[in-house]
Amino acid sequence: MDGPSGSGKSSVSRGAARALGLRYLDTGAMYRAMTWWMLQQGVDLTDPAAVAARCGEPAIVSGTDPDGPAIHVDGVDVAGPIRESDVTGAVSAVAAVPEVRARLVALQREIIGAGDIVVEGRDIGSVVWPDAAVKIYLTASPEARARRRSAEVAGSTVEAQQEAMARRDTLDSTRKTDPLSMAAGAIELDTTALTLDEVIAEVLRLVKE
Ligand code: CDP
Repeated sequence: MDGPSGSGKSSVSRGAARALGLRYLDTGAMYRAMTWWMLQQGVDLTDPAAVAARCGEPAIVSGTDPDGPAIHVDGVDVAGPIRESDVTGAVSAVAAVPEVRARLVALQREIIGAGDIVVEGRDIGSVVWPDAAVKIYLTASPEARARRRSAEVAGSTVEAQQEAMARRDTLDSTRKTDPLSMAAGAIELDTTALTLDEVIAEVLRLVKE
């Protein structure tokens, strides 16, 4: 399940995994966890060489329970801190570093290889697991995406979210390694006018097809 922020990836992926009795992996949380650790360590995130040099150090462990996806860095539960605005503002720069991607993609492939799973990200169908049985690319209008995200983040406005998302979309889509793009064989699903339950139902239909 790939797509930009606010397209509904997390809610849809978790709902589909629950309905199908499958495991679930949030790869964005892994990039966020790496970014959280870099910020804690005071690594200069404007220096890709510095990020590359340190990215092998933290132990990043992702749970796969759709009802309570856990994420730990060196044994510390970071599920809360990785959603803070300092991490959100810095994650695209960290995710653009090829060494970071190589390390996290290897971890993701290990988890995926252990059995059937719903995985959400930006590059799952294109890079991480091109042989996925079903590839879905979720989209939604910029307004709908910003509206959803501002409902999740306390104290934020739709306008501020739309601006921040546009910035992150540009950074994610224009990076040289594995940019945000639709994988070959992916089915595009526009969620703008659909409720969460309607999107999950459509995903389940595509899986059963
Ligand atoms: O939930 P939201 O869409 O805000 O973002 P996320 O899925 O938590 O991902 C955070 C960031 O991680 C994205 O903006 C990308 O820069 C990066 N990411 C990536 O590069 N590749 C992935 N497979 C997943 C996330």
